[in-house]
Amino acid sequence: MGTLLTTPVLTDKQFEKISSLVYEICGINLHVGKKQLANSRLSKRLRILGMSAFDEYLEYLAGNPQEVIDMLDAISTNLTSFFREPQHFDHLSKVIIPRLVSERGRDAHRRLRIWSAACSSGEEPYTIAIVMKREIEDLDRWDAAVLATDINTRMLETGKRGEYEETRLKTVPPAVRQLYFDCIVPKKPRRYKVKPEIRKLVAFARLNLLEDWPMRGKFDVIFCRNTMIYFDKPTQSRLVNRYYEKLNKGGTLFIGHSESLTGIKHQFKYIKPTVYEKARAE
Ligand SMILES: C[S@@+](CC[C@H](N)C(=O)[O-])C[C@H]1O[C@@H](n2cnc3c(N)ncnc32)[C@H](O)[C@@H]1O
Repeated sequence: MGTLLTTPVLTDKQFEKISSLVYEICGINLHVGKKQLANSRLSKRLRILGMSAFDEYLEYLAGNPQEVIDMLDAISTNLTSFFREPQHFDHLSKVIIPRLVSERGRDAHRRLRIWSAACSSGEEPYTIAIVMKREIEDLDRWDAAVLATDINTRMLETGKRGEYEETRLKTVPPAVRQLYFDCIVPKKPRRYKVKPEIRKLVAFARLNLLEDWPMRGKFDVIFCRNTMIYFDKPTQSRLVNRYYEKLNKGGTLFIGHSESLTGIKHQFKYIKPTVYEKARAE
């Protein structure tokens, strides 16, 4: 292995190999415009491995399944925030939860399942859990859970820890911060940890959306936001139809602000932009 003095250059051919591998494994469509980004993100892997050229890296990648995971961790875009696209959490608070409470609030077994299907570093599933806790008075008597999955192992580790720098909490209203976060480092840069009562509602697991889904039960709500945008239409179409199957009747699918189901054949009812529902009766 050579020592790295300058940033290695990813040739078109090498980029093609990487992008078809990434597409094959996780559906992310790295078009030519992403070459520079891939070059800089993967250069970090080469630096860590003490390699100086992408040919050497590609050879290593071919024989090391763990490096495939690390490569995907390096290449994926994980931008997220608490209460991102707040209109979805308004809809959850004002429409979905009141409806579920009125339908199931008196059942002996009150089940509520929400899936954050590409949860990144945990801000989305924790926001969902906070809304559940805030809106359902007797939540302790419900069998309620948020499943948080992603392909990126580093992001999942951050999510599981539930610790965030203060700057990441700027979209959290002060009253919510006060109620659901503990300040664990009071000196600047301050750090906060999601309170145990919220953390216990969220289960993190690695899941590649393109592979089989091991969960047996169905969900009341699925969040798949700002992820399908990286997939091509056939992949989006397969995914949207699998989400339909995985939802309970009347269940809701939230997608990201720049995504739409236009051009995809599906059975969802359009509620408003980025919000879709499965029929109540089939
Ligand atoms: C931009 S983030 C979106 C996070 C969050 N849903 C939000 O809207 O704030 C996209 C996430 O999709 C994940 N991802 C990409 N391809 C995936 C796949 N095939 N299976 C599971 N997760 C995937 C990435 O690791 C990344 O964390």
